[in-house]
Amino acid sequence: MEVVLLPTPEDCGRVVADAVQAVLTAPDRRGAPVALGLATGSSPLLAYRELIRRHTEEGLSFAGVEAFLLDEYVGLPAGHPESYREVIRRELTDAVGIDPARVHGPDGAGGDPLAAAPAYEERLRAAGPVAVQLLGIGANGHVGFNEPGSSLASRTRVKTLTEQTRADNARFFGGDAGAVPRHVLTQGLGTILDARHLVLVATGEGKAAPVAAAVEGPLTASVPGSVLQLHPHVTVVVDSAAGSRLARADHYRYVLEHKLADQGW
Ligand code: F6R
Repeated sequence: MEVVLLPTPEDCGRVVADAVQAVLTAPDRRGAPVALGLATGSSPLLAYRELIRRHTEEGLSFAGVEAFLLDEYVGLPAGHPESYREVIRRELTDAVGIDPARVHGPDGAGGDPLAAAPAYEERLRAAGPVAVQLLGIGANGHVGFNEPGSSLASRTRVKTLTEQTRADNARFFGGDAGAVPRHVLTQGLGTILDARHLVLVATGEGKAAPVAAAVEGPLTASVPGSVLQLHPHVTVVVDSAAGSRLARADHYRYVLEHKLADQGW
């Protein structure tokens, strides 16, 4: 696991954008379709802003991209502004020219979430593997909406959000935690591990404890983010606040300073 400790959230956004750009412009890709795994929430927003800038100012092309969401609320009607399908269109995909038909997520609006879960797994399997999966981390250590206690081998399924997560996400629903759906569809931890490259971004003091637990704590379902320790290619991108509880912070900085010229992310 590579831990990239950077001074500011903007620096983090640039590194995450670099990781996505590396996939889009890989010399062996030659225009072939590519699956990108996208997270919602606040953490990836600066990366999305940077990708939009590179698209508009530098011509970074998203042609051939199939975008796959990590998760979706159950029960919000299609087109609801806080459904993750709408959020990702607003924050990224429309601005970089990805056709909405190429933006995929679990169907939380169709009335049959139990059937939507395996259907999404199948869609991912058919288009995958996801080349790069962006992730945030919840205050309780969740990734996707895999709340503490989630099986480390889980696949896409319905989950019940903790009250803490509903309270954390109330800011997107006018401050009303009661308006945050209780159920979600989320890629499982095992599903997430299928991606070729996992890039977790976290900024701010509130993420310091879950980042330290996920990166340096024991592998445990109690901290779902710790499952990243099982993956061969993980980049954890944190600003100095989110990295403030990492015991090996000096070593991560040392490694970054001495990265080989073409090592990439
Ligand atoms: C969002 C998601 C969640 C968030 C996490 C952090 O698609 O899967 O795991 O990444 O809750 O949320 P923010 O970034 O808003 O702090």
